[in-house]
Amino acid sequence: MVETNPNEIVVVKSENSKINTVDFDNLTFGRVFTDHMFVCDFEDGKWQTPKIMPYQPMTIEPSARVFHYGQAVFEGMKAYKDEDGKIFLFRPEQNFHRINKSASRLAIPEFPENYFFNGLETLLKMESDWIKPGLGNSLYIRPFVIATEPAISASPAATYRFMIICSPAKAYYNKPVRVLFAEKFSRSADGGVGFAKAAGNYAAQFYPTGLAQKKGFDQIIWTDASTHKYLEEAGTMNIFFRIGDKLITAPTSDRILDGVTRKSVIQLAEDLGIDCEVRPVSVKEIKEAAADGSLKEIFGAGTAAVISPVSAFEHADDVFEIPQLEASYASLFKKTLTSIQHNLSDDKHGWRHEV
Ligand code: COI
Repeated sequence: MVETNPNEIVVVKSENSKINTVDFDNLTFGRVFTDHMFVCDFEDGKWQTPKIMPYQPMTIEPSARVFHYGQAVFEGMKAYKDEDGKIFLFRPEQNFHRINKSASRLAIPEFPENYFFNGLETLLKMESDWIKPGLGNSLYIRPFVIATEPAISASPAATYRFMIICSPAKAYYNKPVRVLFAEKFSRSADGGVGFAKAAGNYAAQFYPTGLAQKKGFDQIIWTDASTHKYLEEAGTMNIFFRIGDKLITAPTSDRILDGVTRKSVIQLAEDLGIDCEVRPVSVKEIKEAAADGSLKEIFGAGTAAVISPVSAFEHADDVFEIPQLEASYASLFKKTLTSIQHNLSDDKHGWRHEV
C-alpha cells in the first residue's frame, strides 16, 4: 500500500491563469472558479496522496454511487485578505470538524486534519491573487466529498473523492429577502440529516423554494416537521429574530445546521451586551410581535449569506412587511463580523486563522 505523506502534495500548476477574464466588480455568487483545485482520493481503505491541479472537468463513471444515492457532503468557508496582503480564514477548525461530522452521518470516511489544512493553505497561497482586499470581497471555498465507486447496490461506497474548489465572491443576496414560513413541506426531521451539510438537504429544498419564488418570496424559513409551529432555519442560513432589544434564535438539533456564523453572532451579541435567547421560536410569537410592532428585525446568518436582513414574511396568507431600521442589529453584526474577518479589528476570541 502506498504510504501517503500529507506534506507531499503533488502540485501541477495551470499554464494560463483565467484571472484577467474575470470582472471582480460584477460577480454572481458561485459562477467563476479559480485556476486550481485540490483533489484527494480514498482508495484501498485510505486517503491517497493529495494533488493540486488545474481546475478542470473530471471523468467519473455513470454508476458512481454519488449519482444514485447522493452520498455527498460539503462545506462553505471564506478566505479574506487585509490591506497588507495577508490572507485569513475564519474559524476553519469549525468547518473541518463539521465536514467530518457530516461525513460520518453519510457513512463517508473522515478526512485527516493535516490533509485538510495543508491542502487548503497550499491552495489558498497559490490562488492569492484571486482574494481581493476590502470589505465585501472574499474567496468562497467549497470543500466537498463524493462517493466515486462504480457500483449501484444501495450501500456505502468503497472509494471517495475529497475536493476543494474556490470562487471569488461578493454578496449572496443583493437586497433584503422576503421569506415564507413553511406550513406543509419540511427540510429535515428528528433522527435525520438536517444537522449535516449533506448535498441532498439542499436539493430537497429546491422544489418548495421554487413554489415560494413563484409567490414572490426568495426563501423559506423551515419549521419543525412534526408541528410546523416552530421556526428553525432558512436553508441557506440560520435565522435570528429581534423582538424589542432582545435577539432570539432556535437551538441546534438533529434538524438544524450548527452554523459557524450563527455561533459567532451569539458570541458577538454577548460581547456587545445584547441579550440573545437560544430557545424554540414559535410562529405564533413572531406573528404576534409583528402585529403589535415589537418585532424589529429578522435576519439570516451564514457563510455565504453573511448577515442578510429579511424584509417581509408570509404565513397562512398573512403577510407582514418589516420596515428596515437604520441602526439595525443586522448591520451592527455584519460590520463587527466582517471587521474581524478582514483583520480590521481586535480578534479577542482567536477566530482569525492566518494562512
Ligand atoms: C454557505 O453558506 O456556505 C452554504 O453552504 C450555503 C449554500 C447554500 C451557499
